Amino acid sequence: MNKTINVGIIGVGVVGSAVVLLLEQNREVISARAGANIVIKKGVVRDRSKTDERVKIPLTNDINDILDDDEIDIVLELMGGIDLAYEVAQKALKNKKAFVTANKAMLAYHRYDLQQIANNTPIGFEASVAGGIPIIKALRDGLSANHIIGIRGILNGTCNYILTKMANEGLNFDECLKEAQKLGYAESNPTLDISGMDSAHKLIILASIAYGVNALPEDILIEGISKINQDDIFFANEFGYIIKLLAIAKKNGDEVELRVHPVMVSKNEMIGKVSGVMNGISVIGDKVGETMYYGAGAGGNPTASAVVSDLIEIARNSSSPMLGFRKPLESGLKLKPIASIESRYYLRIKVIDKAGTLAQITSILGDNGISIKMLLQRESNDTGFATLLLSTHKSNELSIQKAIENLCTLNIIYDKPYMIRIEE
Ligand SMILES: NC(=O)c1ccc[n+]([C@@H]2O[C@H](COP(=O)([O-])OP(=O)(O)OC[C@H]3O[C@@H](n4cnc5c(N)ncnc54)[C@H](OP(=O)(O)O)[C@@H]3O)[C@@H](O)[C@H]2O)c1
Repeated sequence: MNKTINVGIIGVGVVGSAVVLLLEQNREVISARAGANIVIKKGVVRDRSKTDERVKIPLTNDINDILDDDEIDIVLELMGGIDLAYEVAQKALKNKKAFVTANKAMLAYHRYDLQQIANNTPIGFEASVAGGIPIIKALRDGLSANHIIGIRGILNGTCNYILTKMANEGLNFDECLKEAQKLGYAESNPTLDISGMDSAHKLIILASIAYGVNALPEDILIEGISKINQDDIFFANEFGYIIKLLAIAKKNGDEVELRVHPVMVSKNEMIGKVSGVMNGISVIGDKVGETMYYGAGAGGNPTASAVVSDLIEIARNSSSPMLGFRKPLESGLKLKPIASIESRYYLRIKVIDKAGTLAQITSILGDNGISIKMLLQRESNDTGFATLLLSTHKSNELSIQKAIENLCTLNIIYDKPYMIRIEE
């Protein structure tokens, strides 16, 4: 006779409902794999009338009904938010209940505290990064013999959908965002997604597992996609690039660089081929080489697939340490200062169209040690202006930011030049 593992779900919305239904629909295969019957004992919501009517579990409004129930083995937090979710996690772990969450925002701030409080009580968070793609287990367990050289991820399906649509259909950012909202890919308040913050939450979770670095979102470079326009798409296309919002982690010596920003990347690279609402992650290990993970990064069923994999792992009593290490991975690792990050750059500069303009721009770039690799000029519809699109040879952040600042002082410049990094 299988043992029974009782789960209490806090939050029975999109993901919570999908978890309840998945456990019912795939009950046999799950119990065979888990060696246990995983049963949802009760769920917490604020407003019962909003709950999916197919969900037939006892519901309560009181989170303590779950946290204080001695029969509940696993607390599953699927409500989102930071402070209350962290309180729930602490209380669950203090009560020696395993804790599973899909909440990247809370983990971005509290993963190390939780690892410490947990001691050996299992914590699962597979669904917090890239929804259905099992990237946490891949990085923590499958690649655990490697030094991780780098990670490049498309970790936000909303942004990837918008950028793909802009590239394929020639539409502007606002039109594509509206379409994403209409299709349910973007929230009515899409700020977390399009600002790059959601990807940053996920990147720093991955970086904790890969390097043991304890970064907060405010420690890293984060830029969103809202300023990208069709001139940028045109330039990228002309030179064989595609624009993606990438979350990048790289280790060099005792420094780790972590950043999220739009990138021009070759169309031929695997990561460049991840399109639409899908997520993709490339992880390079020193022994394994490049590995690539692709799949749905959000949505009820893909996310529930990841959540239930955590429940199964816990039911099997086979949990790994939360972040995958039992003592510090490497001592002395530090975050690379943003100013010393090196890259090639693309600049879009709207200028007054008159003789001598280009000379003034190249002179400022030259003064900052930056040389131009490729240059295109596009006429502006509004008379008297032109848009220069150029890429540079390798430089660094300090130089390019200084050059942009200097360019802004020229009276031939219409507005602040827009920059995108080129990943090669
Ligand atoms: N949706 C996805 O595709 C996806 C993918 C990966 C990760 N995640 C993460 O999964 C988590 C849940 O996302 P979701 O899309 O399922 O959210 P959702 O549809 O908004 O559901 C949230 C649920 O939590 C309940 N809730 C919220 N605050 C509560 C509180 N203070 N007390 C009691 N119940 C509360 C809500 O109840 P009411 O409805 O009654 O307010 C609702 O049942 C989030 O951390 C999210 O980042 C989601």
